[in-house]
Amino acid sequence: SLKVKGPLYNEVTDPSFLCMSSELATAVESRRNFAIISHPDAGKTTLTEKLLLYGGAIHEAGAVKARRAQRHATSDWMEMEQQRGISITSTVLQFAYQDCQINLLDTPGHQDFSEDTYRTLAAADNAVMLVDAAKGLEPQTRKLFEVCKLRSLPIFTFINKLDRPGREPLELLDEIEQELELQTYAVNWPIGMGDRFKGVFDRRSRKIHLFERSGHGRREAKTTIVDIGDPKIEDLLDQDLYFQFKDELEVIEELGPELDMEMVHAGLMTPIFFGSAMTNFGVELFLEAFMDYALKPCAYHSTLGDIEPTYEDFSGFVFKLQANMDPKHRDRVAFIRVCSGKFEKDMTVSHARTGKTIRLSRPQKLFAQGRASIDEAYPGDVIGLNNPGMFAIGDTIFQGKKLEYDGIPCFSPELFAYLKNPNPSKFKQFQKGISELREEGAVQIMYSADESKRDPILAAVGQLQIEVVQFRLQNEYGVETRLELLPYTVARWVKDGWPALEKVGRIFNAITVKDSWDRPVLLFKNSWNLHQVNGDHPDLVLDAIAPVTS
Ligand code: G4P
Repeated sequence: SLKVKGPLYNEVTDPSFLCMSSELATAVESRRNFAIISHPDAGKTTLTEKLLLYGGAIHEAGAVKARRAQRHATSDWMEMEQQRGISITSTVLQFAYQDCQINLLDTPGHQDFSEDTYRTLAAADNAVMLVDAAKGLEPQTRKLFEVCKLRSLPIFTFINKLDRPGREPLELLDEIEQELELQTYAVNWPIGMGDRFKGVFDRRSRKIHLFERSGHGRREAKTTIVDIGDPKIEDLLDQDLYFQFKDELEVIEELGPELDMEMVHAGLMTPIFFGSAMTNFGVELFLEAFMDYALKPCAYHSTLGDIEPTYEDFSGFVFKLQANMDPKHRDRVAFIRVCSGKFEKDMTVSHARTGKTIRLSRPQKLFAQGRASIDEAYPGDVIGLNNPGMFAIGDTIFQGKKLEYDGIPCFSPELFAYLKNPNPSKFKQFQKGISELREEGAVQIMYSADESKRDPILAAVGQLQIEVVQFRLQNEYGVETRLELLPYTVARWVKDGWPALEKVGRIFNAITVKDSWDRPVLLFKNSWNLHQVNGDHPDLVLDAIAPVTS
């Protein structure tokens, strides 16, 4: 008989089930899923493209970027995307490398940074933190890191642009350790930098990979690999570089910690890689190590306890909703992270929140902006389902015994604006639009604690969310709205709710609003004001992330 790992298992001898279980176990074993966290310009697009190149998903780099530019020309793309020439659509890239299926969950960045960027991390098993060697840690990376930390995601660090002058490698490691409280383990170590970037030493194989410059690296880079003990090295490298490298290596090998995979998987230690995505250098070494070190699809917590991916009944949850990807259909797509079992086209599942039964027809797999239909998917994969309004962020779908996954929390918004409807005859449409867009997770809605101010407050992580809400209210609900921006940038939920707030009395330097569940939220103009309130009221516990409500 066979036991499926996890709190829920069946002991069965039915051959068809055994066959299914081993197929499932093999699929889970071969899957690696990750999202890239970085600040704009660190090289996320470039690295993504190079990973696809090495994964054999594209044959020549340049395609992803070129497609990005071509987008203006394609007619069936969301109007706003075309107007602004940016990507609102988060995509999932799947490619095979060696025996693995890799899923790269794209985290929207730049101007399209939004709460979806954070939510995508709820569907990821690993994160790759991309750092520009000249800039070190930057604000958006720090914010995204905090969200990874909440889930204890393993973090793999790729320090990019070594072909340009940058900061000292040891200094960069130190910054990560101090600021993020993450232990570092350099898997490879760079030799030189900028014009004198010669290559990296791979500590796994104890070999030096020498770098050959090749323009923008459209194809795989040529490398010369030599053993660290090989006398040729001293001829291949300038002496001063070689000695500097030896010194630094000695420091990290003697003073640095050992690689501890348990700590990596608990998100307490980060393996570090150096390279240059533009010239392809270090990309393959990274991919190979990542394949070995990354977490396979992991268990998710639910009302039935932890659900292992090998649990035979299909289940998953919605982490993102996308509206109007194709204006001809005005459809909505729900992105689902498969958590357990095997997904099959046309299967019938239960919807945990409403208790309804639904048939999952027309599932979609997403590759860049193309949409292909899929027949099956496994834990760690993401599928796109057409959503005629039945899904909300965090919803669970399942087969078999009823279960519901922990929801996705609301993340701290940083932009606030009253939304006004100047036309009283549109009152109903305005209310309906606000309530539907809130449910869909397009934006958070708050209200002033002062009852005389009835206008809803849009609370967003990025500017785009506010624009999308106004655009959709006009296009889908026929309501033209006006914004009145509020001067706040920081929001904190009051841990013990209204009673805790009453106990401390009047608070200076903050205003009180309530979220859609009537919970008190304090808004501050800046983090300095937040620190003041923390200092004045040490007993008041404030959270940057709202508790999940179902
Ligand atoms: P993003 O998605 O994180 O915003 O970054 P993206 O890949 O678009 O890269 C931002 C810029 O950094 C691009 O330059 C890109 O070529 C460059 N870049 C990425 N990786 C490396 C690297 O390893 N070394 C160097 N030297 N540059 C790198 P750009 O001038 O904006 O665009 P392009 O004209 O070069 O495409």
